[in-house]
Amino acid sequence: MYPPQPSPVSFEHLPDGLGVGVAAPRLTWTLPPGSGRQQAYEVEVDRAGSVRRTGRVDDDTHVLVPWPGEPLASRERAEVRVRVWTPDAAEPTAWSGPRAVEAGLLAPTDWQAVPVGAGWDEDPEAERRPARVRKDFRLDRPVAYARLYVSAHGLYEAEINGRRVGDETLAPGWTVYPHRLRYRTHDVTEHLTEGANTIGAWLGDGWYRGKYGFDGGTRNIYGTDQALIAQLEVRYRDGATLVIATDGTWTAAPGPILTSGLYEGETFDARLHDPHWCTPSAARTAVDAWTPVRTGRRDPATLVAPMGPPVRRTEEIAPVSLTRTEDGRHLLDFGQNLVGRLSITADGPAGTTVVLRHAEVLERGALATRPLREAYAIDTLILSGEGPLTWEPRFTLHGFRYAEVTGWPGELTADMVTARVYHTDMRRTGWFECSDPLVNRLHENVVWSTRGNFVDIPTDCPQRDERLGWTGDIQVFAPTASFLYDCAGMLDSWLTDVGLEQLPDGTVPWYVPVIPGAPMWTPIHPGAAWGDAAVLTPWTLHQRFGDIGLLRRHYPMAKKWVDLVERLAGPTRLWDTGFQLGDWLDPAAPPEDPAAGVTDRYLVATAYFAHSARHLGRAAAALGQAADSDRYTTLATEVTEAFRRRYVLPSGRMTSDSPTAYALGIAFDLLTPEQRRDAGDRLAQLVLADDARIATGFVGTPLICDALTDTGHLDVAYRLLLQTECPSWLYTVTQGATTIWERWDSLRPDGSLNPGGMTSFNHYALGAVADWLHRVVGGITATGPGYRDIAFRPRPGGGITWARTRHETPYGTAALAWELTATGLTARCTVPEGARAVAELPGCPPISLGPGEHVLEGAAISAVAV
Ligand code: BGC
Repeated sequence: MYPPQPSPVSFEHLPDGLGVGVAAPRLTWTLPPGSGRQQAYEVEVDRAGSVRRTGRVDDDTHVLVPWPGEPLASRERAEVRVRVWTPDAAEPTAWSGPRAVEAGLLAPTDWQAVPVGAGWDEDPEAERRPARVRKDFRLDRPVAYARLYVSAHGLYEAEINGRRVGDETLAPGWTVYPHRLRYRTHDVTEHLTEGANTIGAWLGDGWYRGKYGFDGGTRNIYGTDQALIAQLEVRYRDGATLVIATDGTWTAAPGPILTSGLYEGETFDARLHDPHWCTPSAARTAVDAWTPVRTGRRDPATLVAPMGPPVRRTEEIAPVSLTRTEDGRHLLDFGQNLVGRLSITADGPAGTTVVLRHAEVLERGALATRPLREAYAIDTLILSGEGPLTWEPRFTLHGFRYAEVTGWPGELTADMVTARVYHTDMRRTGWFECSDPLVNRLHENVVWSTRGNFVDIPTDCPQRDERLGWTGDIQVFAPTASFLYDCAGMLDSWLTDVGLEQLPDGTVPWYVPVIPGAPMWTPIHPGAAWGDAAVLTPWTLHQRFGDIGLLRRHYPMAKKWVDLVERLAGPTRLWDTGFQLGDWLDPAAPPEDPAAGVTDRYLVATAYFAHSARHLGRAAAALGQAADSDRYTTLATEVTEAFRRRYVLPSGRMTSDSPTAYALGIAFDLLTPEQRRDAGDRLAQLVLADDARIATGFVGTPLICDALTDTGHLDVAYRLLLQTECPSWLYTVTQGATTIWERWDSLRPDGSLNPGGMTSFNHYALGAVADWLHRVVGGITATGPGYRDIAFRPRPGGGITWARTRHETPYGTAALAWELTATGLTARCTVPEGARAVAELPGCPPISLGPGEHVLEGAAISAVAV
């Protein structure tokens, strides 16, 4: 048996330590089983053989612990390990396994590379054929190691000697490019050989210069060029170094990709592809005309390292059915609405053109492409006639369950095509399962909508001509997402961009990055629930991941937002002016006007004002800013009082007698105890009067089950959850949904598609109920940052007889499995080492639990609402 040891450390929120963008990366480790908690730790940092130890540090922190000692220099590598002291052992544990961390290029002066792309003239208003760029070079001595630092204007896929570098897709991702362009660091030692070498890259338009956005899209949002920025740094065994950076000595040629767009899809002409194009081999043919590149400009101070994992292929799915239509087309069903693209293996005469079209749903047996609007999602392969070719597009993604194939040479069989699933490759951290199969499918749909919409930025939808970082959508969904996946790094990066796009007066854009919009979104107006992402999302991430640094960095943005709303509201403390989306997509709103719900949109706005002010006060307190904490807490109280005066009638009814209004009042704690009780009763009454069909949109839906639960109407919350008539969560499941829909009736009971201009079948916002599933049905709630304090508070009901919920917290596994037995409720709780928990089983006094496993035979059956 090995001596117990902590886990190897991890750095920031990164999956590995290569190419970190901060000189002092914070360290996280988990404790060995049975240690209870940490009393002290010691970190050892080995920098090229010079070993430094911190000595014993009496501190119980082991999540995001400050970097010990000198900051890292650019490119500097260190090996880090840790050991800890725990209460029951006199000796420290054994050292953890070592983990390497290596800084990226931290200073602008580290960069020699300049953007290089097509040297030929391009018409910026037309569809442009993407370029490939390359350079031949020699290595005259044995190589010790090599790194490639790489980014692009547009998208890139790099190769060295015919071998792909890395496995990410849609790199460098989407950030506010003028301020932040991500580069990634790759270890390319194994790609190189002594002698002749070639480095090159495929380029695509992507978000940088591709057509993107509403109403046909806008080209060249960030620039007209398409260019690689790459710096290969080779260290020879004798210690000498060589740098091959993109510069005027590179060459470019039009590639075999004829057109490529994130929305449009991609066309690839295999006849124009020389497979040796990126090798120094003599077999390299001259199908491409290579000419000198044009060099461009990029301020190296804007090149930033990733804060989270990249977009990658995470799964392959075979078709569940393949049908041939009378006119020779093939219709494929993958059984799952997903985000990705097809990989096909085709063989046929030169010039054969295979066309792939995609859609989320069928209408009368054919692809329903209307909801895609102007995102055509068509991929085309032209065969070279030189034998079987396995191909998938490079610089596009589609949201689809169905695909149609035309022009296939010969017989198409299921083994010739697979769907490849792509998204930001976050670590899965949350699972939920219960005795109700429909609820399980609903939860699975939430997971799939998370996957499909966490594609470098958090998007509204993955299929139509939108796919934007809508602030309101992630604001309501972040609590769910942060349970299911380790999304801290990705959302931290996106929030950094929200801060950059925030207007000087504090306005938070509707979507980030900002692109030219339809008239409704331009100029940007401040809007409640959307703009509040600036306050509430950093708060959520701090609660779930225990990252006070993240809260601190985004605090100025949060404050600017609340200060703006305070000015807009003026002395009345009521935000009752201007453009608001209200309870967006309330099912009572007409399809063509989703903002016209039944809840007064200014009631929504003032409720959010109070809620954000209160959370800002809490954030200030957590950051040790006492004056701010007082100021915003007082502001929150004043807004709350104004809200009551304006929106709660003496009878206890609210001016909008709607579920969303009551849910807001209760969940945002805006009511007196008496009003709260009345509001809970009225809410339950309204829900039951509508036979527990849902009557809330983006704002009310994430809150309504909590509002019912917290006012003694758990049974009504379960009725809402378990309703299968339209509109309801499970209606979508009974209609065969495999993702969460944008509208409650994206597919209507008569089988027709909702006629609204926005009809997506993959929108996570209404899936925010999964947070309630995790906390209330499953019973796991973070009561302290990073789940260091946990409440196990399951509230069984709705005939559900068991639930199993698990979350990989920063401290380790938290789990709760409960089941109803003949005599009561049995709960198995797992508390992570270093954390503490309180079990609050129905009808039982709270019990404190330390780390480890606990079986509680608690509640008598009478206490459990069945
Ligand atoms: C998006 C939403 C977004 C909304 C703003 C829609 O087009 O898909 O999810 O939040 O606009 O109102």
